[in-house]
Order: sequence, then structure tokens, then C-alpha cells
Amino acid sequence: MNLVVKAEQRQEWMREVTAFGDAFLAGLKDGPAFNASGPEPGSLEIDGQQHDLTSLLKRFKEQVVNQGLNPASGGHLGYIPGGGLYASAMADYLAAITNEYAGVRFGSPGAVQIEHEVLRWIGGQFGFPEAGTVGNLTSGGSIANLIAITAARDRHEVLKNGSSRHTVYVSEQAHHCILKAFRITGLGDTLFRMIPLDERHRMRPEAMRKQIEADLAEGLQPFMVIASAGTTDTGAVDPLDVLADLAEEYAMWFHVDAAYGGFFIMVDALKPLFRGIERAQSLVVDPHKGLFLPYGVGAVLVRDAEAVLKSHHYTPNYLQDALDVSFPDSPADLSPELTKHFRGLRVWLPLQIHGDAPFADALARTVELTHYFRDQVELRGFKIGPPPDLSVSYFWYPAQANNLGSDDDFNARLMTLMHQDGDVFHSSTTVGGRFVIRVAVLCFRTTRSTIDRSLAMIDRCMLQASGK
Ligand SMILES: Cc1ncc(COP(=O)(O)O)c(C=O)c1O
Repeated sequence: MNLVVKAEQRQEWMREVTAFGDAFLAGLKDGPAFNASGPEPGSLEIDGQQHDLTSLLKRFKEQVVNQGLNPASGGHLGYIPGGGLYASAMADYLAAITNEYAGVRFGSPGAVQIEHEVLRWIGGQFGFPEAGTVGNLTSGGSIANLIAITAARDRHEVLKNGSSRHTVYVSEQAHHCILKAFRITGLGDTLFRMIPLDERHRMRPEAMRKQIEADLAEGLQPFMVIASAGTTDTGAVDPLDVLADLAEEYAMWFHVDAAYGGFFIMVDALKPLFRGIERAQSLVVDPHKGLFLPYGVGAVLVRDAEAVLKSHHYTPNYLQDALDVSFPDSPADLSPELTKHFRGLRVWLPLQIHGDAPFADALARTVELTHYFRDQVELRGFKIGPPPDLSVSYFWYPAQANNLGSDDDFNARLMTLMHQDGDVFHSSTTVGGRFVIRVAVLCFRTTRSTIDRSLAMIDRCMLQASGK
């Protein structure tokens, strides 16, 4: 078979692929969200032979799609869900077919324009000024955070001035990709100050100020505040405006990781929570979370174009005189990537097809469903975490008080049983040393009946866990 495929063959393949996609989507409503097994050994082997698409799709379904977590399912209530919008799948198809080169403007001015337009739209949601702000569409939140932290490092010349003398102020709830980014950027010995949290898991600004003053008294150099707008574990939004004040007062870089929670700013009732986010020097927000896109797109915005270019542009002399309104031209100047997937299209197309309103509505619904879930588990005798800022919360069963052994052992057993059941998927974490089960609603396919299915599953598993 030739690598150039004839039109009739292409059409036949597309019919099969489309039928596969349709059947998959039709099965989402009633299908389980999790299957604890994995592929059979050798079942996905590349053996150098030719195989027909029908048999390959069958293997793909059995060995990939039906295994593990189903992240497209509305029943994915663990980790941070997203869903996967159909319009993005179409965009990925078009991006792959045309193979537009989204790294450098010269190669594909249109693709780069779309990336800039998406970033401009995102910046607009957060009140970022267009002038002087640069951004990049990354593979996800981890790389987006890495770009921001690299820019902060270079703006403050941390390596030159001794990273072990520099201090960073952060919540223990900050995503671990932040700590990874510090190691990757050569800042592994920077002093991390874990700021005490309030009863709703948000950083206490007064404790931060005390720590900054103590660090200054020791001759250390406070350099960065890292706030979260929606922590992964508990969905907490730090008091952004007050933290921005502190960062400004002590001339620190103010970074906000809003990878999970950022797009909730589109919900009118939640806007006040985000006050101060527009003052961030850098901001991370993930369309593959809060805009329900398929995995593979995060975003970073940085107000200090020069700092980002210093880290990522390949001809530094070009830096000073190129900072005009038409700059930066190319995503490759703002990220470690040169060649990259044309990610802009998978954000641009759904936003153009659906408009903004359905996104805001779907986000608002996730918050309502989280509250409904909390009320229902509480009625069942569970303890619940503090009222969540967004759509992540947690709960645990007070086993000890009910003569069912230690709380942690019981809830870990319950979690295992829930995973074995798999109808709806939850994940666990540790909060304040306690094993808790999380509920994270962030899929546009999650409905009240999904939550009711989860509650029915919890009832089933509770009977088993308590040996009834
Ligand atoms: C708050 C936060 N930041 C960063 C990340 C990392 O993002 P990604 O998994 O897209 O790299 C996550 C992932 O869940 C997150 O919740």
C-alpha cells in the first residue's frame, strides 16, 4: 500500500472513524467512567505488518478506550476533568490534515494569528492589557507554569544572584508542577515558604507578610508569590488582590496558577473571587480543563514580554529593538518548543462555533452540581470539607465514631471499592493529614443524574465497606 491514500479509501476510513466516534459518544451517557484493568500484554504491538482499519479500531476500543478512566465521560469526577468538545476534535483533524506550522509566523501567519487571537481572548477574560502582554499555548498547565517561572527567574536574575538566597511564597496546596518547574529551571535550592492556610485552604496574607519580614531580616531576597485560583485538591482560590498588594509592596513577581479554576471568571456570580488576577505578572489557565477541550492545551500569559523573550528567544540581541506593538510574532520565541501542534485551532473553533455563553453556563452548572453532591453525601452521614470556592470538594466517612475502625483505613477501603465499581470515578487525596475522597465536577457532560449515579454507587460501596 502506498503512503499516498486515494480519495475513495480516505472516505471509507473517515466513515468508519466517524461511526466509531458516534458510537463512543452515544455510549457515554450510560457507560462506566472507570475500568480498573489495563490492556492485555502484547495486544497493541507494532509488528511491521499491514492491518485493516476495522480490526485496528476494534483493538483500540477494547485495549485503550475500554481500559482505565474514561475522561470524556460526565462520570469523571476525579482529578481535574475536562471532557473533550467535539468541535476541538474537528479542529485537530483540520490541523493535522493541513499540517499548518504554528511555531513561526513566517511559515504560517494565519495559524500564528489564530494562536494570538486565542491568547488575546483569554487575556480579555482576565483583564490583561493587550499591550506588553505575551502568551503561549502549551501542551498543558505544567509547561505553561514552567514558562512563567522561567520568565520570573530571568527578570529577577535569580541564578546570577544566588538562588538559595531567594524566597518563594506559596500554598502547600499549589500544584506539584510548580515544584518541578523550579527544579527544571535550576532553582531547586530556592527557599520555599509554605504559607499557613485559613479554614477554607486559602493562603493567609498576614502570615505571608510575617514570613517576608522574617526573611528580609535574615538578609534573604523575597522574589515570587505563587497564588492559586482553584487548587487541585480543594478548589480554593487564594485572596488574589491582597496577595497582589503584597507582591507589589515587596517588589516580587506575582504568579497565579489558574490552570483549573481560571475560566470560572466567566461566571458572573464568581467574578469577585478573581479580583486581583488582572494584576498578575504571569497567569496560567488550561483550556483542556475549564473550557472542556480534549487534553493537549494549556495557556500562559506574561505581562513582561522582555523577560519571556530573554528566556526563549534564540537571538537575544534582537530583543531590545523588537519590542514594538507587532511583537512577538512567533510562538517559538516564547516557549521551549519550535515545531508544535497547531493548538490554537482547537480553542478557536469551539469558541467561534458556540460563542462564550454556553461555556459560562456549563461552568456555573458544575458549581451547582458540586453543592448538590455535598448536600447529598452529608445527608448520608459523611463529613464534608469547607464550602468550596469552585467545583472541587471532599468528604470522608467518620468511621471511628461509627465503630468501623480508623477513619483513614475505612475511607481508603471505600475508595478502592468505588474504583472497583467504576460506574462514576472519584479520586482521593490527603488534606491536613486526613485521607479524603474528592469530588471534582468539571465536565460539560455531568448532569444531576450523573451525581445521583455516584450517590447510588457510594451507597453500594458503603454497604460493602462496612461489611453489611
Ligand atoms: C492547579 C493546577 N495547576 C497545574 C496543573 C498541571 O496541568 P497539566 O496537567 O495540564 O500539565 C494542574 C493539573 O491538574 C492543576 O490542577
